Amino acid sequence: MKPHHLILAALCTLSLRAQVIPLPADDRPRQGEFQLLPDAWMAIPAANPENLPDYVGLINAAGAKVRFAPQDVACAIQLLSANILPDNYPIPSGEGYVIRITPQVINIHAATAVGHYYGVQTLARLIEDAPKQPNQPIRLACRDIVDAPRFAWRGYMLDESRHFSGPAAVKRLLDAMARYKLNRLHWHLTDSPAWRIEIKKYPELTRTGGRGSETDRRPDAPAAFYTQEQIRGIVAYARQRGITIIPEIDMPGHADAAVAAYPEHDGGGFLAKGSTDKWPRFTFNPAKPATLSFLDDILTEVAALFPDAGVIHFGGDEVHFGWKKWTELPEVRDLMKRENLKDLAAVEAWFNRRMAGTINRLGFKTGGWDEIAARGLPKDKTVIWWWRHDKPQVLRDSLKAGYPVILCPRRPCYLDFVQHESHQAGRRWGGFNPLRDTYDFPAPLDLSAADEKQILGIQACLWTETTITRQRRDFMTWPRLVALAEAAWTPAAKKDFTSFETRLKPELAWLKAHGISAYDPFANSPEITDKGAKTEYLDTPE
Ligand code: ACM
Repeated sequence: MKPHHLILAALCTLSLRAQVIPLPADDRPRQGEFQLLPDAWMAIPAANPENLPDYVGLINAAGAKVRFAPQDVACAIQLLSANILPDNYPIPSGEGYVIRITPQVINIHAATAVGHYYGVQTLARLIEDAPKQPNQPIRLACRDIVDAPRFAWRGYMLDESRHFSGPAAVKRLLDAMARYKLNRLHWHLTDSPAWRIEIKKYPELTRTGGRGSETDRRPDAPAAFYTQEQIRGIVAYARQRGITIIPEIDMPGHADAAVAAYPEHDGGGFLAKGSTDKWPRFTFNPAKPATLSFLDDILTEVAALFPDAGVIHFGGDEVHFGWKKWTELPEVRDLMKRENLKDLAAVEAWFNRRMAGTINRLGFKTGGWDEIAARGLPKDKTVIWWWRHDKPQVLRDSLKAGYPVILCPRRPCYLDFVQHESHQAGRRWGGFNPLRDTYDFPAPLDLSAADEKQILGIQACLWTETTITRQRRDFMTWPRLVALAEAAWTPAAKKDFTSFETRLKPELAWLKAHGISAYDPFANSPEITDKGAKTEYLDTPE
């Protein structure tokens, strides 16, 4: 062969390895190829298209040109039910799917819309990978992909309180999460610096409580928050991408912004480091009937905005930092006497049970940080987020007590930790969180099969104290969130960091093309530090 023929032969060799992240559970090459012609038909199950993901759009965004098929045409790509597979295939359920690429047709089998959606996402990656020429068929190697996730919960937490992201950035985030089959956005909407969710009954929560940020404490700073209408739109946008949004309303601590708006609910705060009175209104009054009703009202509006969330997260973290003044509150003293509570931990536990009762009555499970594990909440109605990596016993105790658990330990799941040894901005705690550690998680925990059954899944968390700009939030999130996505989806035995790195390289280009300023670990791209940056109030309602 002449050299240019060699090059041509190489170009024509169809990729037999899936370039997909997360790597599918099982991917078997077969003989032959399928040619996807321009203007081919795609059949999707009959249902109200308004509620379906945009399957055709996903395939076309990958570089193909297919059309939604009318009845009775021969289709190139068909979304089919789970139980019409040939005998030797496992029947997919839930988020699982089977793709069969044969010389005649591409069939995607699944039991649910989200299973089809993930099958289409995987097919879109194969199409993206294939060489393309104008008006020529796209050639795809025949293969069987049989895929399903390792963990049901594949999450990301975004702290909106310290610095606000806004609807456009959240939608872009949801698009990227969906690409990597992440399915839970834990939306941390309230905390000490600011309150970011509109509550109709208490407009001062956002009017006053929504002002400023971690780095902008001016009393006349603009308010930034999500209106209820925006939230409904974002929840629907997420749902179409297989993503459930779980709201967090943090209580009884991390309450300064809400208490600034409604000071009658003040439970006192704390003196941080020496005598700097940083969070003087850190807690809600945990025992005042009017405060408990106020929180009931808020949770009732939240429940209506997130009807499919399944879980409402009520925080519950770090309360003891700010409860010193509780002993001076007459309502707390009365409660302790009435309920025979011996100390403030017992008061906190009483408050947890009281508010969990509201959440359960609204039809949701209660989610909380791992401090709530020892509070006697019902095991079938409570989900624990294990975050304190330095307290492994809390994880063991939560599992032993029978709680479902989400794993998000600071090391290696907190994305406000730096990701490269040279980085200056961000946290460290006996080390930092490089890409590799996030990828390898949860292997270091040595989970037994029984543990793994009780663990709902894993989650990365972005706390935004040090991320003032969107660019830095992206920089801290990506590509570690891609690594977490594969860690959450791909079976442990199939994970391979070297293969992941190879597949990650083109994803960095995709992220960049979608306006996401990811860190490039291969080039060790310059750190985005936000040094000197000012708080952004992007996308704020007028
Ligand atoms: C937390 O990091 N305070 C949950």
